[in-house]
Amino acid sequence: MLRPWKLEFQINDTCDKAVYLQIADAIIADIQSGRLKSGTALPGSRMLAQELQVNRNTIVEALNVLLNEEWLVSRERKGTFVAEQLPAMAKSRATPSRHQPEPEALPKYRIHFDDGHPDSKIAPIAELARAYRQIFNRKGKWQLMGYANPLGDMGFRKAIAEMVNHQRGMQVSEQQVCITRGSQMAMYLTAQCLLEKDCYVMAESPGYQPAWNTFRHAGAKVLPIRVDEEGLRLDDIQAHTASGKAIKALYTTPHHQYPTTVTLSLQRRLELIKLSNKHGFTIIEDDYDNEFHFGYRPVLPLSSYRELKRYVYIGTMSKVVAPALRIGFLVSNIPGLLDKVNELRKIIDVQEMP
Ligand SMILES: Cc1ncc(COP(=O)(O)O)c(C=O)c1O
Repeated sequence: MLRPWKLEFQINDTCDKAVYLQIADAIIADIQSGRLKSGTALPGSRMLAQELQVNRNTIVEALNVLLNEEWLVSRERKGTFVAEQLPAMAKSRATPSRHQPEPEALPKYRIHFDDGHPDSKIAPIAELARAYRQIFNRKGKWQLMGYANPLGDMGFRKAIAEMVNHQRGMQVSEQQVCITRGSQMAMYLTAQCLLEKDCYVMAESPGYQPAWNTFRHAGAKVLPIRVDEEGLRLDDIQAHTASGKAIKALYTTPHHQYPTTVTLSLQRRLELIKLSNKHGFTIIEDDYDNEFHFGYRPVLPLSSYRELKRYVYIGTMSKVVAPALRIGFLVSNIPGLLDKVNELRKIIDVQEMP
């Protein structure tokens, strides 16, 4: 009879690599060498922890890395197995994909250019599952299963208001917040409630076409605004406002302009707020990647400036958690806008609460 697989490996306390990564790499090495074959069941985490004399959580972390990278598969009530289809990966791996590769490892990786899509393999699926389970294990869970407020759960709206107030310098109440299915729905609701046929919306160009589509769908015409190394160009805005057209709004991504990633300079931010107040156009601020600021302090949204009279601020969980969640939000200081959004949401989505 074949001897069961045993991880023959010594943890290196002096090496920089975290212990769970050392364990994950040792298991990969066994898979690659053929010692551990496709379809083989792995020993339980408790047993592995005992064999290697480490905490069981360390093993769980290592196994999670391997599950995420698709070296292993988990079968409900059966256990964890070596995948039948192994991932096509470089023979040696410095760190798992959720960590920055070490500089010398970079040439080994292909760089993947896309629209800034988050890596779904590292979405916090376990945390989400735990949170859902906790909610559905509550005593009054049936109460969650009926129709609800068209603007979203009040507790969640409150949490979003607190988050944008504490972390993004805003000063809003939960009454000003609407939870949406992603920022796309927030843009659609805004377009339908704010714009009218044949009005104009200025938008950064190049810019985010799904937003332009919502404006056009509402009957508005899009006026492109060029972008340079300081962000959107104010001379273009001035030219449009001087033209006498009925300009209702400006759509902008000031934190990281989409797709150039330029951050709108402070001087232009202040000037833009003045222009919006002077000409009465609403700033529709799409802050889709507010959480991404590496090595410098986050730039506060335009909508956090007290003097800005008309804004719709849009955020999303798509980048920081996962696009499939379809959770976003809009916040506005425009009187009556949330009432209109509430009415529209009832038509396209939820019924009124009984
Ligand atoms: C500019 C911009 N806004 C918003 C989003 C997010 O859209 P959603 O929240 O509908 O997933 C993206 C995603 O790619 C984006 O690039």
